[in-house]
Amino acid sequence: MIRACIFDLDGVIADTARYHFLAWQRLAKELGVQNFNEHENERLKGVSRIRSLEIILELGSISLDVAAQEILATKKNAWFVEYINAMKPDEIYPGVKELIQEMRKKGLKVALASSSKNAKRVVQLIRIENDFDAIVDGTMITHTKPNPEIFLLAASLVRVKPSDCIVFEDAEAGVEAALNAGMKCVGIGSPKQLDKADLVIPHTGDFKLESLGSL
Ligand code: BG6
Ligand code: MG
Repeated sequence: MIRACIFDLDGVIADTARYHFLAWQRLAKELGVQNFNEHENERLKGVSRIRSLEIILELGSISLDVAAQEILATKKNAWFVEYINAMKPDEIYPGVKELIQEMRKKGLKVALASSSKNAKRVVQLIRIENDFDAIVDGTMITHTKPNPEIFLLAASLVRVKPSDCIVFEDAEAGVEAALNAGMKCVGIGSPKQLDKADLVIPHTGDFKLESLGSL
């Protein structure tokens, strides 16, 4: 029986995945990496900042030492922070705040599990920082999705066993992480991209609590 719902943030609660993409695209342009596009960007979703940079450098066959990589990752992050600082609370996807509230009213635990080190800032900006029973962000984990660490930590913080948890994810790496944790997963986006998920819906706000029983 599902007793906890765990939400990814970027691309699930708000369109911050778009801001990550815009910032990486800007960096890729500066580096002359021409084959970075929306399709390749799918591989960056859910993984850490430094792993995302490595993928872009691999695409451009560029090899850099750790110090040079750090400088580029910091630059990308400064652009991303500039974009999110201009966010307004109404940039939360329609129906998501209501869905979370409905889940909690029904006695379900609700957690946030985002690989982003900016997750706490984003939830403050869209004013949902008090809507979760637990928040796990990129500063609290060692291994990036598809490793299940982030979801297992979220489950332990809300004291629910993994098999009673369901994860909402827009990234292939995130769907895999949920399944690796022994949890159910609702994919947000395209059924083709997220074919391993138990159910795929186009928007988080479309989820119907009644469907929990059949998953
Ligand atoms: C994930 C995003 O939520 O966070 C990734 O899907 C991003 O695209 C990762 O790279 C790390 O984010 P940040 O904010 O710590 O650079
Ligand atoms: Mg995401």
